[in-house]
Amino acid sequence: MAQKVQFVETVLRDANQSLIATRLPFDKFAPMLETIDKAGFYAAECWGGATFDVCLRYLNEDPWERLRKIRAAMPNTKLQMLLRGQNVLGYSHYPDDFVKLFVAKAVENGIDVIRIFDALNDVNNLKVAMEATVKAGAIASGTISYTTSPVHTHASYVKMVKELKEMGASTICIKDMAGIMGPQEAYDMVSAIKDAVDLPIDLHTHSTTGLAFMTYLKAVEAGVDIIDTAISPFSGGTSQPATETLAYALRQLGYEVNLNDDCLVEMSNYFKGVRDEFVADGTMMPKSMATDTQCLTYQVPGGMLSNLLSQLKQMNALDRFEEALAETPKVRKDMGYPPLVTPTSQMVGVQAVRNVLDGERYKTVSKEIRAYCRGEYGRTPAPIDPEIQKQILGDEKPIEGRYADTLKPVVEDTRKKLGDLAKTDEDVLSYIAFPNLAEKYLQERKAKEENVATYTIVEA
Ligand code: CO
Repeated sequence: MAQKVQFVETVLRDANQSLIATRLPFDKFAPMLETIDKAGFYAAECWGGATFDVCLRYLNEDPWERLRKIRAAMPNTKLQMLLRGQNVLGYSHYPDDFVKLFVAKAVENGIDVIRIFDALNDVNNLKVAMEATVKAGAIASGTISYTTSPVHTHASYVKMVKELKEMGASTICIKDMAGIMGPQEAYDMVSAIKDAVDLPIDLHTHSTTGLAFMTYLKAVEAGVDIIDTAISPFSGGTSQPATETLAYALRQLGYEVNLNDDCLVEMSNYFKGVRDEFVADGTMMPKSMATDTQCLTYQVPGGMLSNLLSQLKQMNALDRFEEALAETPKVRKDMGYPPLVTPTSQMVGVQAVRNVLDGERYKTVSKEIRAYCRGEYGRTPAPIDPEIQKQILGDEKPIEGRYADTLKPVVEDTRKKLGDLAKTDEDVLSYIAFPNLAEKYLQERKAKEENVATYTIVEA
């Protein structure tokens, strides 16, 4: 019997986020939801990550309403979201009551699969979200943030995977956010995890360095169950490799791929038009579509390189780029080899630039790095360099245990504070996640409703 390979389509979330900064409004993809629903994907990744923030900040959309509308249009396909563990959809840790309610409401509004990761791979930061997902009856996809360092070994990843299974993971995701995983590494890592646990494995990578097609192929040879791809007009570059290409190649190699080609053609034709609009208005830049192998040379994710460049440009110090680049892995080592993913990539990059421009290491540190050294982001993969930690914290002691245990519940107080501005728990959650953005949205909604009400009375 042929080995079956299943696909997660990412056009609505990761491809959208990677290529056009998540600017796809609901109305632009709505006409394709029925087709995506019929195409036979394992899941459609459509929510979480940056979509929530961008809906409120730029698109004037209620992210919850977006989810409900997707759910209504796609009754047959699992809907998947990306969740940053205890950070939920933000950049620092939230109290447990918020994490639990957020997960419960995400599932209630239509999510089937929650991919849960932590920037440090600290399982203590995944536990509450994982358990809440299982309790809500959804699929908890326990996720490894893939990185390379002397302390990131197959043994360390296998240990983590076993802990994820213990916490109730129904699938395991290997998340290679920087697209730096090569084909042999994929083969070896998938094999090691397959040997350790009997859970379906999903490999998630990006085309950034050009390795992705080869990496997926070798992962499939090692028995990977699910791969993440994007419909061709939104594939390549910083996004995922193309859905149609992988379906074609894997079928030719004798694997079972249950995707409907007519649906894929329809999606491809439609999204070509959408892509052209975003190219025309400058949102989709040629740079994000290109192959960039610098990440392999420097072991720094593509997004970080462009952040380094723009920071140095702002400070009129572009000539220090090579130095800042060389400093980045040193800061990462000092900080105990965190995987470079939101928010650690930003923190490490900013610190590297400061160290170079100050002419003295850790003379100035951001409040995020200070919090990191205090233990507010969790347990680091290797210990933070003790001397540097001491230099940054002075006499202050790092916290023991889980930072979220020190945080007070937030939901009840926020509900009271918002009064009738918040009509639902979802409104309260939006406000806790992004107070300023949500308040503006809720005020505008209220004003609009009052106008409508006045108008109705006049009419009557
Ligand atoms: Co991704």
